[in-house]
Amino acid sequence: MRHYLQFSDFTREEYDYLFERTRIIKQRLKSGQLYQPFIGKVLGMIFEKSSTRTRISFEAGMAQFGGHAMFMQSKDTQLGRGEPIEDVAKVMSRMVDIVMVRTFEQSIIDRFAENSLVPVINGLTNEYHPCQIMADIYTYIERFGSIEGKTVAWIGDSNNVSRTWLQAAKIFNFKLNLACPRGYEMTVLDGQSYGGEHFEQFYDPYSAARDADIVTTDVSTSMGFERETLQRKKDFINYKVSEKLMLQAKANAIFMHCLPAHRGEEVDPEVIDGPQSVVWDEAENRMHTQKAVIEYLLLGKIED
Ligand code: CP
Ligand code: NVA
Repeated sequence: MRHYLQFSDFTREEYDYLFERTRIIKQRLKSGQLYQPFIGKVLGMIFEKSSTRTRISFEAGMAQFGGHAMFMQSKDTQLGRGEPIEDVAKVMSRMVDIVMVRTFEQSIIDRFAENSLVPVINGLTNEYHPCQIMADIYTYIERFGSIEGKTVAWIGDSNNVSRTWLQAAKIFNFKLNLACPRGYEMTVLDGQSYGGEHFEQFYDPYSAARDADIVTTDVSTSMGFERETLQRKKDFINYKVSEKLMLQAKANAIFMHCLPAHRGEEVDPEVIDGPQSVVWDEAENRMHTQKAVIEYLLLGKIED
């Protein structure tokens, strides 16, 4: 049994397979073909934080597959009243076929997975957001082909999303330039290295964006860090993706954002709503790529 708890849980070969499956699954859906391998199957979802895209993409994807997705907010369950995550995992995994968890520390989802009888997917933790970066890389490949050798400029916080970009840079052999204020640099977790040639730390966003193929950003305050919002707003004031900053990147560079976005804070409306932005494709591709992950975790490789 496999889980998808970090981007590094799949190999490059597995991603190549998953992206090919994504292409087929997406194309079938667009052409109106029914593909329902999971009739009678249930995806259980635990949300300890808010969500729009993650909930919609998993629920819609599971319904299209002929199955059901069960939405649970921890505050409405016994988890919110202190039931141990290990006990929830043991109970839930006796009744559902696969689980998605959105929570705080990575250690919580790790403990869930250790006690689960079924595959577990990370729908965002404080440390990682693998489903997001899988969709983002698919979105790039869908338009331009290989991402190998390209440069991704991340302007902003060293958070769950940028840390997942870093894991992806090593697997897909591209470079991540990260520009953030001093004091917000990327922290290395679980003994993983920055990856040498795959990562460069900047403090000047214009230098980070120079000749980039992708410019991307995220909110300065992630969920769970709300108490730091005021301080972060001040600290990140010079880390906004503007039209002027986009001019540093390649002429055909694209702008990405996992959403939700705060226009005027981390990105100007002219950029996120402008011609270089691919944010709506990114959001849609969450559903198609996650369907490929669910299919792979439950059925293994499909030959058809
Ligand atoms: N990008 C993303 O995960 O969005 P939600 O928080 O709306 O799920
Ligand atoms: N970094 C953001 C991403 C939201 C999808 C957060 O964790 O809140």
